[in-house]
Amino acid sequence: MHNNLQRFILNYQPEIEDQLNHMLAIANVSETLKSSMAYSVNAGGKRIRPLLVLATLEDLGVKSADALTVACAVELIHTYSLIHDDLPCMDNDDYRRGKLTNHKVYGEGVAVLAGDALQALAFESLTTLQDTSAEDALQLIRMLAGAAGAGGMVGGQMLDIEGETKQLSLMELETVHLNKTGALLSFSIEAGAILAGLHQEKTAHLKTFAWNIGLAFQIQDDILDITSTTEALGKTAGSDISSDKSTYPSLLGLEGARERLAEHHRLAEQALAFLEKDEPLLGLFADYIVNRQS
Ligand code: IPE
Ligand code: IPE
Ligand code: MG
Ligand code: MG
Ligand code: MG
Repeated sequence: MHNNLQRFILNYQPEIEDQLNHMLAIANVSETLKSSMAYSVNAGGKRIRPLLVLATLEDLGVKSADALTVACAVELIHTYSLIHDDLPCMDNDDYRRGKLTNHKVYGEGVAVLAGDALQALAFESLTTLQDTSAEDALQLIRMLAGAAGAGGMVGGQMLDIEGETKQLSLMELETVHLNKTGALLSFSIEAGAILAGLHQEKTAHLKTFAWNIGLAFQIQDDILDITSTTEALGKTAGSDISSDKSTYPSLLGLEGARERLAEHHRLAEQALAFLEKDEPLLGLFADYIVNRQS
């Protein structure tokens, strides 16, 4: 990993962890539910989505006192999506973030509720912004709802299920990836742009960047599912094959998938030219996303 990116991550990760735990400190809740929510939130995720919110602001040279709250809201949605994704009725996986999956520890009922509660908590937290206009706050809430819901992550997960029983075309698969994974990644970048007060035309470049790294992220996830190990991934390797998923490698072969990955990486880098920076953090993030091994 590039030194500047490593420094950025080491700098912000503790703040993200603190903010998440602050959000989880809810009164009058079942200790089991609380413990199940905290178990997955603190299981050791890479925090890519919150870091992308913060990196976007950093590249735009703007600070916002609400950045961490927004960053952690999207991480809560992401963590909920993983808890549900691992359930026996979905991908049926036993390991996540190097630990047993939530339902393996707490049972399916509690795992479903922990996911539900994390989702609600994410939206509640967006109602507490201090440094953002009411109009921008509403826009962020609307965008997160769109990215999380039927037109975003959940919709993508639905298409992913449908892809288990039929062969998808490349275009259909692209839609699955852009929705199930790309939507929350795009939210992270667009949210950074809103907090920075960026105007329309530049937001379009960031959207192109986000679109391409969203695809690249899931293509690399699909490649790693085949080429890596459960130990290295912290989640069950080979999971896609055992559930007959439609993935880039299953459709294009490993080499074909790697070519698409490189192409989306190139397009993502290109979209950052408007920043007029030698090494924007978002570019370093794109490098990390396509080269990551877990
Ligand atoms: C995994 O996301 C799920 C996908 C969208 C492919 P991450 O690779 O960001 O998982 P964590 O948060 O680091 O566990
Ligand atoms: C799921 O994609 C992305 C989500 C919306 C949770 P995967 O099913 O490929 O994610 P992993 O491989 O289990 O992390
Ligand atoms: Mg899945
Ligand atoms: Mg899965
Ligand atoms: Mg996967």
